[in-house]
Amino acid sequence: MSLKRIDLLICFGSGCLSAGAQKIKDRFYEVLQAKGLSSEINIIETGCMGPCDYGPVMVIYPEGIFYKKVTPDDVEEIVNEHFLKGRPVKRLMIQDEEDKTFFTQKEIPFYQKQVKVALANCGFIDPESIEEYIATGGYEALGTVLTTMTPQQVIDVIKKSGLRGRGGGGFPTHLKWQMVHDNSSPEKYFICNGDEGDPGAFMDRSLLEGDPHRVLEGMMIAAYAIGAKNGYFYIRAEYPLAIKRIKMAIEQAKKAGLAGNNIFGSDFSFEAEVRTGAGAFVCGEETALIQSIEGQRGNPTPKPPYPAVQGLYKKPTVVNNVETLGNIPTILLKGADWFASMGTETSKGTKVFALTGDIKNTGLVEVPMGITLRELIFDVGGGIIGDHKFKAVQLGGPSGGCLTTQHLDVPVDYESLKERGAMMGSGGVIVMNDEKCMVNVAKFFMDFCVDESCGKCSPCRIGLKQMLEILKRIDSGYGKEGDIEELQRLGETISKLSLCGLGQTAPNPVLSTIRYFRDEYEAHIRDKSCANKVCPDLMHFEINKDKCIGCSLCSRKCPVQCISGSREEKYTINQLPCIKCGTCMDVCPVKAIAKIPGMHSDVKAQREAEELQQQNQEE
Ligand SMILES: Cc1cc2nc3c(=O)[nH]c(=O)nc-3n(C[C@H](O)[C@H](O)[C@H](O)COP(=O)(O)O)c2cc1C
Ligand code: SF4
Ligand code: SF4
Ligand code: FES
Repeated sequence: MSLKRIDLLICFGSGCLSAGAQKIKDRFYEVLQAKGLSSEINIIETGCMGPCDYGPVMVIYPEGIFYKKVTPDDVEEIVNEHFLKGRPVKRLMIQDEEDKTFFTQKEIPFYQKQVKVALANCGFIDPESIEEYIATGGYEALGTVLTTMTPQQVIDVIKKSGLRGRGGGGFPTHLKWQMVHDNSSPEKYFICNGDEGDPGAFMDRSLLEGDPHRVLEGMMIAAYAIGAKNGYFYIRAEYPLAIKRIKMAIEQAKKAGLAGNNIFGSDFSFEAEVRTGAGAFVCGEETALIQSIEGQRGNPTPKPPYPAVQGLYKKPTVVNNVETLGNIPTILLKGADWFASMGTETSKGTKVFALTGDIKNTGLVEVPMGITLRELIFDVGGGIIGDHKFKAVQLGGPSGGCLTTQHLDVPVDYESLKERGAMMGSGGVIVMNDEKCMVNVAKFFMDFCVDESCGKCSPCRIGLKQMLEILKRIDSGYGKEGDIEELQRLGETISKLSLCGLGQTAPNPVLSTIRYFRDEYEAHIRDKSCANKVCPDLMHFEINKDKCIGCSLCSRKCPVQCISGSREEKYTINQLPCIKCGTCMDVCPVKAIAKIPGMHSDVKAQREAEELQQQNQEE
């Protein structure tokens, strides 16, 4: 028997894999073999450890030393210094701005305010090993449920815990379960929604990749509670690692007798299957998802009937999010009171977020509900990158709202966010610095929703397109008085009349940015100016003649030859043909070229002349 004195945990989450984790692992094997240390070091591939921006990351036990941005060239030094001489490599550790070094994972500020429930094993165990899952208490909850509890008792525990769906709506989990449990239909289904199509979101994917057995166990407990014998994991094809790992988990559980027939010697039998989606955002909507599993085009259908009454193959069906299921085994093991002791009055437990944008610690985090946005962004997220200030945060995916500095002390819970025009959503958090233009941000999300609308109902199909046209008009300098009010009117109408959640919530980014950044819309419309110089038609480039040394580099590099001048007279931009590519500013050796907010007077004059001509033609 080999005695392993060191556990080397290498993050094999998608972020670290794309940053080169496989090469690091291969190099460790080579070096350890060459030095005859293979039998002493246990290399374990884990799911996402959280701070993805630092990838590839690794943790070395027994001390829990954390290394970031490791390259294959660092491996020999880690082996020689750390493994052989017991001197951890300080330069690979995380340091703060005051040069304080954090040796162990648990000291790192990023982890301080986090509480891991759904992510408890993510980054700690090998997701491809059922033995490791079992060693951390895995399948104990299922065993207890199947051998000592009735389905109703399970539902009662979930009810008492206060668990609400993590897929966006925050619907109380026990209510759906109860509805299907009470239905006498002999055929019922359970679906795990792993579609996760929001830009910037990777919570469910990371959980499926990092701890697939937990989600499978959660599904089987839920299926027992509602009386379903068949379950489906619906995962988009763009998540191949998540698909591979959940398939592997199902196979392993079957082999171990933990799935399939008469699980734990009980009367409960359960078969789980994986269905892959083609990557449409609307297919995450539960009725569209059901259509897709049935082999039809993924279009939403009217509710009622709700899936709990008439779902997959017209049978009672519960659809639950991946993270919702990830909480179930621990609630059953640790008890409803333990879970309900975390969070706020109406939002219990923890929530997993994917932090992205202009934030230092981009990555995967799990925090107690009720944490403030300030704590989430500054304490966990480490604040804004560089010298910039925080401007806004977009929560809840493409249909969430943007909040601003005035909301930093708002607690993150379902109701507080909704009251302010944002929403919890599934957990995507996009943090923006003070360089962002909020009209442009609203346009980006609207563009996404227009592309992703299935087109089945006209408020969403036509209305969102109309909103996008107005936004395009505003950011290209053709905005007119009344556009803001028109956006609001359209947004409210589309929200009320659309068939599914996509259309009902798609206006949120526009409505919330109008609510909190109306002055930016007004400046775009009235002053034809984008203060942050993001919208190309509402800014221009100018050469400062006092700084220009007449080297002609800008003129030679300009792709449309719109810069002219001489060494003596210096250079000038002809504003009308300028395509705002920025090349001149990048190449100028003395930084004489700058972006200036506002449409240039030459362009303004030309547009006015064109408008006049058009009016004359119409008359
Ligand atoms: C356009 C749209 C996309 C959605 N995408 C997802 C998704 O990717 N994952 C998810 O769990 N729920 C998604 N939902 C919510 C689901 O319809 C459903 O409410 C959820 O899966 C229920 O699970 P829960 O009760 O555990 O939250 C989406 C809803 C809409 C309207
Ligand atoms: S609201 Fe949009 S996505 Fe939903 S059914 Fe209507 S057209 Fe399709
Ligand atoms: S921004 Fe581009 S097109 Fe305009 S002057 Fe500079 S190089 Fe030429
Ligand atoms: S993927 Fe490695 S830390 Fe997230």
